[in-house]
Amino acid sequence: MKAKAKANTNIALIKYWGKRDNELILPMNSSISITLDGFYTITSVEFKEDLKNDIFILNNKETEDKEQKKISKFLDIVRELSKVKLYAEVNSENKVPTAAGFASSASGFAALACASSKAAGLSLSERELSMLARRGSGSACRSIFGGYVKWEKGEKLEGTDSHGVRLLSEKDWDISILSVMVASGKKKVSSREGMKRTVETSPFYSGWLDTVEKDIKIAEEAIRLKDFYSLGNIAEENALKMHATMLGAKPPVLYWEHGTLEVMGHIQNLRESGIPAFFTIDAGANVKVLCLKENENMVYESLLKLSSVMKVLVCHPGSGVSYLE
Ligand code: PMV
Repeated sequence: MKAKAKANTNIALIKYWGKRDNELILPMNSSISITLDGFYTITSVEFKEDLKNDIFILNNKETEDKEQKKISKFLDIVRELSKVKLYAEVNSENKVPTAAGFASSASGFAALACASSKAAGLSLSERELSMLARRGSGSACRSIFGGYVKWEKGEKLEGTDSHGVRLLSEKDWDISILSVMVASGKKKVSSREGMKRTVETSPFYSGWLDTVEKDIKIAEEAIRLKDFYSLGNIAEENALKMHATMLGAKPPVLYWEHGTLEVMGHIQNLRESGIPAFFTIDAGANVKVLCLKENENMVYESLLKLSSVMKVLVCHPGSGVSYLE
């Protein structure tokens, strides 16, 4: 009753922003992401006879009550599916630098979904794993698959049609994704809270819903044609639109800092000088830059020269989940 799995994190190009069901984690809109190499979580799960509760160890340390509860709530779903009654010991190693602004919850819940379901004796398809991972964190449903992935929002109330699908494998199209860390304070609003507040109070949210499925279509077509300019352009527009919806929330949610704007301006200048580079920003101050491999070094060096840039990490499209034991 033991298993170990590895999952990479992902970055959304068309964002998931807003839930239609908070408990089942069903999204208002479909989203598209790239699974990244290099930033991952490895998790082992063992269901044991002698445990009186679940144990969650992250990077060799026992975690706080709030974290333990999230994991136990997730394991309850696996226990219900498998009819296993035992508690589990969960051991996770996170190679996602939290300061890099990547959500470790995406790789974390994707790895946990695989390891816990296998340890409980379930043999789930990729689609079923994606739906299970979604129950931990929405973006995790995309990390089950490698490369370019779409999360189909689905229509059903119970969420059985809301899961990831692979659009293009990581081997089919290599581009560069640079994670740009800028000097910033600790973020005050989680993505969960930010999206909830936006859905409930922002007058701009209806504009998001009216246009996001069109953005999805443009991105899908760009991925199919491997049209970098079109994909980068729609990703940048979509990220700005997501942030615009938050500015209209009550109270407003603003994740950008001085460094965020410096990087955004720099990328727009690069583009004017003929280098195809685009940015996207999640619920935080850091910026992710998309560029072609042939321009990777040049874009990397130019970003490091900006006064508010602290570090730049280079990634490429990576693989989906794998079992290690
Ligand atoms: O899955 P969560 O709850 O970490 O939310 C992710 C929200 C964004 O990162 C802003 C967008 C996305 O699609 O990943």
